[in-house]
Amino acid sequence: MKFFVDTANIKEIMEAQEWGIVDGVTTNPTLLAKEKENPLDVIKGIVKTVNGPVSVEVISTDSKNMVVEGRGFAKIADNIVIKIPITKEGLKATNVLSKEGIKVNVTLIFSTNQAILANKAGAAYVSPFIGRLDDIGNEGVNIVKDIVKIFNIHSASTEVIVASIRQPLHVTEAAKIGAHIATIPFNVLEKMVYHPLTDKGLTIFLDDWKKIKKRV
Ligand code: E4P
Repeated sequence: MKFFVDTANIKEIMEAQEWGIVDGVTTNPTLLAKEKENPLDVIKGIVKTVNGPVSVEVISTDSKNMVVEGRGFAKIADNIVIKIPITKEGLKATNVLSKEGIKVNVTLIFSTNQAILANKAGAAYVSPFIGRLDDIGNEGVNIVKDIVKIFNIHSASTEVIVASIRQPLHVTEAAKIGAHIATIPFNVLEKMVYHPLTDKGLTIFLDDWKKIKKRV
């Protein structure tokens, strides 16, 4: 499973890159707003830092302007992927951009039928939001299970990005299902590294080593 970092924070991206685990980045308007800088400058910084795909979301809601925005973002760098919400207008824009060879990540997916439509329209990626489904009492991971199963049955080329990941268990579940990609916030990546027995074990090893050195 590929790991994307779900952030627009360049420091977080660079830190995760040093761990050797970053295959790409996803941003959205909320994440870019958190950076309190010119979003275009932030995006340009990210695409220079990361080799893999970097998703950038359009703000327009009509297909004509989504296409204009998408073409504009795509000119910034070869690794830009245009994030488009799953609406009727979004499908139209996905159809146009994908035919021009621009990769589209259809976002805000909450049902299998939305994912099927995005695939048909030419999406390179679909992003089901599992955390937000959990929030309303659904088991978000089930939708990923179904989308992956359907895409596998039909040998669909669209990759499934598990999005709205809120906790390490979501990542394990995504991997068990066979999702292509998990896009993970930096705080969840940090939690994935941590285990109390690792810290305890390391303390014991270091203490024991100090004892040996004293005797020598
Ligand atoms: C990424 O593509 C999504 O925009 C992101 O994972 C949404 O996460 P949230 O539901 O925690 O805002």
